[in-house]
Amino acid sequence: MVTPVIEVNNLAKWFTDENHRRSRVLHDVNFNVFPGETLVIMGGSGCGKSTLLNCMIGELHPDRGSIKIFEKDITTMDEFSLNDIRKKFGILFQSGALFNSMTVGENIALPLQEHSEIDPSIINIVVTIKLEQVRMLAHRNKIPSQLSGGQKKRAGLARAIALDPKILFYDEPSAGLDPVTVAAIDELIISLSKKLGVTSIVVTHDMPSAFRIADRMVMLHKGKVLKVGEKREFEVLRDTPAEELTDPNDQLIHQFLLGLGHGPLTDSEGISEYEKIMTDGFI
Ligand SMILES: Nc1ncnc2c1ncn2[C@@H]1O[C@H](COP(=O)(O)OP(=O)(O)OP(=O)(O)O)[C@@H](O)[C@H]1O
Ligand SMILES: [Mg+2]
Repeated sequence: MVTPVIEVNNLAKWFTDENHRRSRVLHDVNFNVFPGETLVIMGGSGCGKSTLLNCMIGELHPDRGSIKIFEKDITTMDEFSLNDIRKKFGILFQSGALFNSMTVGENIALPLQEHSEIDPSIINIVVTIKLEQVRMLAHRNKIPSQLSGGQKKRAGLARAIALDPKILFYDEPSAGLDPVTVAAIDELIISLSKKLGVTSIVVTHDMPSAFRIADRMVMLHKGKVLKVGEKREFEVLRDTPAEELTDPNDQLIHQFLLGLGHGPLTDSEGISEYEKIMTDGFI
């Protein structure tokens, strides 16, 4: 039995809004992530994907449950130990989160200067290698405002891999990019995963991208896990005609995966569940 790199057990999270109303955003979420795999977490807007990711990187504290990373529960860890574990993470945030006043090269050098013992004379070489890996060497001396969206993602990725992470977290790596650029970023995600042997967790609602990069998938709906499985199982659900699916959850996943306007996620007036969640919240 392979030991999971990450174990998410019975995770629950509530948020309190400005009127002191508590809404439950994650409901007893359970899944494992195994060494070297790419796990895609998908689900509609507001279903709790980023909240889950932020709990996994220790940025948010869940109200219940545990998250074990390398067999240690990060939800009960002090800040010092958490920071130690965070050094093993690379994170690509939705925006790329580059510092605008620094060049691309300086952005990538920063984690090396702050969190490693690497000699300053070697840092330049490491930056060159990382930029080469994401094919951004030509843009080393540009500042982020001089980059396209796809180039910003690549630069963010070079920074995420600067410290040779064991786990890479991606929040919506394809957001705001055209389909061809998305495919190129996906190739990069796949090749980094193979070359570096990292375990990757990718949050996305871009289905073509999800099916390209995933080994296994988690479908979240209203903060609950509807299904965890191999990519192949989700392909079968996607490709089976809706009328042949008897399980309501399978019908819902089918509609989501194909992005259909009609199905259990849409009411009789054609309004999607996700639009309602955005306005009503959920308890
Ligand atoms: N800090 C917060 N305080 C209160 N509510 C929050 C907070 N962060 C998120 N929420 C709410 O929690 C729910 C889940 O948000 P989350 O950002 O996790 O969704 P998501 O699945 O990442 O959505 P998207 O696909 O749009 O990025 C939403 O209803 C959101 O409004
Ligand atoms: Mg999100």
